[in-house]
Amino acid sequence: MEKKKIKILVLFYTRGGCTADFAREIGKGAEAIAGAEVSIKRIPEILSREALGHDPERAARMDAIEKEFPEATIEDLIEADGVAFGTPVHFGSFASQVKHFLDQLTLAWHQQKLVNKPAAVFCVGHGLHSGEEAALLSLIIPLLNLGMIPVGIPYPIQSDAHDFDAGSPYGAIFISASGKREMNDMDKKVAQILGRRLASMATLLSCGCDACGVCQELTRTLKHP
Ligand SMILES: Cc1cc2nc3c(=O)[nH]c(=O)nc-3n(C[C@H](O)[C@H](O)[C@H](O)COP(=O)(O)O)c2cc1C
Repeated sequence: MEKKKIKILVLFYTRGGCTADFAREIGKGAEAIAGAEVSIKRIPEILSREALGHDPERAARMDAIEKEFPEATIEDLIEADGVAFGTPVHFGSFASQVKHFLDQLTLAWHQQKLVNKPAAVFCVGHGLHSGEEAALLSLIIPLLNLGMIPVGIPYPIQSDAHDFDAGSPYGAIFISASGKREMNDMDKKVAQILGRRLASMATLLSCGCDACGVCQELTRTLKHP
């Protein structure tokens, strides 16, 4: 029997480009799962050019990112079987641009369009212990409100060594020193693990088999919220 195609959307906002680089690694992980079709899209900027400041190098980088990654729409989110959400850490939380995007989901929320879709979160911060876990956990809150099912990275999979310093149980983390630090193999590995787990969970949750009591239970919760 031919395997059903599973749509994985990797969605990110970036101001400097680091979160886009990390999103590519999440996408690579998801692509490793048979039947997964991955698209990586960006959440648009909402701040004015004045507020962002004059930095020609950053502006050129962002032009390239805009060319490479299409802008995400609400429809993309609704059509996806699983979604990874990526954000820079901004003031110890997730970026307001991501919140602005999520706030446009009110109708989809009322119509339960995102219920039972698996969701994973990833973030990029400047330095260690400066809000990465808080950013991931705060981003999971609206996703739970939308009825999405969080997918993390449990310790036996995540932790190969004592000095394993990428990621967390809550999602993938990359410490970028604001563009001065390159991603190492561990950073990439943890991002790819998260992408693979998201695509695997999306495959399980999209099986739609009539015989499976678990699938029927998920559908029942939709009919009787
Ligand atoms: C408004 C603002 C607030 C920030 N707050 C934090 C913070 O609380 N913790 C942190 O580690 N980095 C913080 N940073 C740094 C960014 O998270 C970091 O540079 C990251 O690499 C940016 O990702 P990007 O290149 O995808 O935009 C902040 C940056 C900005 C612009």
